[in-house]
Amino acid sequence: MISKRTIEEVFDTARVEEVIGDFVQLKKSGSNFKGLSPFTEEKTPSFMVSPAKQIWKDFSSGKGGTAVTFLMEHEQYTYPEAIKFIANKYGIEIEETQKTPEQKLQDDEKESLFLVSNYAKDYFKKSLLSEEGKSIGFSYLKERNFDQKMIDRFEIGYSPEKINDFSDTAVNAGYKINFLEKTGLTIVKEDKQIDRFRSRIIFPIKSMSGRVLGFGGRILDNSKKNIAKYINSPESLIYQKSKVLYGIFEGKQSIVKNDNCFLVEGYTDVIKMHQSGITNVVSSSGTALTENQIRLISRLTKNITVLFDGDAAGSRAALRGIDLILAQDMNVQVCNLPNGEDPDSFVTERKLEEIQDFFNSNSKDFIVYKASLLLNESENDPVKKASVIRDIVESISKVSDFIKRELYIKECSKIMNISEQVIYSTLAQISKQSLRNLSKKKVVFNEPIGIIKSEKKKRSVNELYELEKKIIEILLLYGNEVIDFEEEVFKKNEKGESTTENTKRSLRVFEKIYMDLHIDEIEFTNEDFRKIYYGIIESFNENKKINIESFINKLSDQQQLEVTNIIMDNEKYVLHNWEKNNIYPKNKMNAISQLTIETILNLRCSLIDKKVNEFKNENLNQSNVLEQVVNYTKLKRLLSEKLNRVL
Ligand code: CTP
Ligand code: MN
Repeated sequence: MISKRTIEEVFDTARVEEVIGDFVQLKKSGSNFKGLSPFTEEKTPSFMVSPAKQIWKDFSSGKGGTAVTFLMEHEQYTYPEAIKFIANKYGIEIEETQKTPEQKLQDDEKESLFLVSNYAKDYFKKSLLSEEGKSIGFSYLKERNFDQKMIDRFEIGYSPEKINDFSDTAVNAGYKINFLEKTGLTIVKEDKQIDRFRSRIIFPIKSMSGRVLGFGGRILDNSKKNIAKYINSPESLIYQKSKVLYGIFEGKQSIVKNDNCFLVEGYTDVIKMHQSGITNVVSSSGTALTENQIRLISRLTKNITVLFDGDAAGSRAALRGIDLILAQDMNVQVCNLPNGEDPDSFVTERKLEEIQDFFNSNSKDFIVYKASLLLNESENDPVKKASVIRDIVESISKVSDFIKRELYIKECSKIMNISEQVIYSTLAQISKQSLRNLSKKKVVFNEPIGIIKSEKKKRSVNELYELEKKIIEILLLYGNEVIDFEEEVFKKNEKGESTTENTKRSLRVFEKIYMDLHIDEIEFTNEDFRKIYYGIIESFNENKKINIESFINKLSDQQQLEVTNIIMDNEKYVLHNWEKNNIYPKNKMNAISQLTIETILNLRCSLIDKKVNEFKNENLNQSNVLEQVVNYTKLKRLLSEKLNRVL
């Protein structure tokens, strides 16, 4: 472990602009530096570094943090790797804390296993170039259309037929049989040493930083039915199947740049995708994705596109696994390949443009996909439909982000033709159930009334906070969008009676919010949100649109954090994907319009509640106070009716 003192020295010495300056061309801009985002392809700079605050923000990808987090994001370093990199740059000596003898032994052993694995990779590569390798291994790769470039990029090799050629060569080169056995490369039986991989094409499996962890070996002859098509390294100190993804090293930069990761089944799928020009792809090697693997991807992007084989589509098992990805707050899209195709065959027969077009137009948001798929199965069976709804709401409940969740609820209610209310109550049931499961033993009877009361009060304070935050969120994310809002206007008919009529009015979301809040003289109760709100208004008045850069610097640290958090958390929302894929532009508009109207109405209701509570604490006998309360209560009822109509 790196000592605390070294870590502190690194933080004291490192200048964020110098560390980032090694990777991004920075130009002075006021008190900050600006540059082109290294995480996206952009033409106007939206990457900012603040020397005063020693932080950076990338407005196009939403990433941000310190010098250390930059290295972790950009170079995919782990925390200690990033610390070591900076220490090296500034000539800081790295002090390691004392290791226990066991720790030291384990570290040494791990290091030895890495060395052996790296040696094996080189040996297999060399063997591919031997006489035997060329005539058997290489010709197989040619036959399957593997380019030389891909053979090099993925360091594909060949293991010869002879029973112990590798083990012998390695021992002769000085590698200890103990370590050869622990990596699984050599199987030791009594006094015999046998190579695990023989007569196979070898795919080295690498870590994020490119170290060889293990191998997959494929037979050359499909006709041998009684032999496993693939043999993989056994679990070891350095190879844990559930923690690796094939292709992560070769694809990491591209995954970040594209802000999306394709997920395929096998080794050959990954390689063939690369060969066709799509490099943001990994494989979990034939098994369902594990939590560890998802975490690995989430270091690079929040967006996953799962490619389903043409015939495996809709397999319930495959769908289940995806809930796990949702639970990690990833956005999941699925893309069905045409019948009978897997990624390998699909990309091999097509040009890059055609492939990309297909992926773009056939990728569907997972929950939407699941809803329509399951619905087909249960159309005329109400009992089944009930369980399907539950199944889908189960998936929705995994999504922790509330705007995203609301959009899903709206979408699914339309697809499945049930009211949003039903989805909401199913959702409530599910979360109650999981709460109950959590605290089964902690049921308290006869709760003192005082506690319930203060609980209620706290909730209403939070409600106001959440609603104000939501308004800011809507402004920051969708403020510039032009939307058709339904508005009620009062009219007089021929008889002179006043009626209301619904008309559509095209407004920017910003204008709608500003006008509605202004009419009611609504002020934000949270000071930070108020400051941010006025910052947004000013920016709008100056630029005729909301320009985050123009006001963020005027905000306090806390307010900046609120803004960057909202943007960071939201940048990669489903909506953006919908937009990117041109799938539901109309629904998106509807969703934003509903969200805006509802939030404003809810905010009004919540403020009225607050007012009424304030009055109630005053002397109710004063007639004007009572009148106010009655008026507010009436208004509240009116608003609630409106809200019900919107819902
Ligand atoms: N797999 C495995 N053991 C097997 C079969 C499959 O470990 N006996 C894993 C491998 O990681 C493989 C993945 O499951 O890459 C997908 O299987 P498959 O589609 O059969 O393999 P491909 O890599 O696509 O190989 P090929 O196209 O050469 O058949
Ligand atoms: Mn395959």
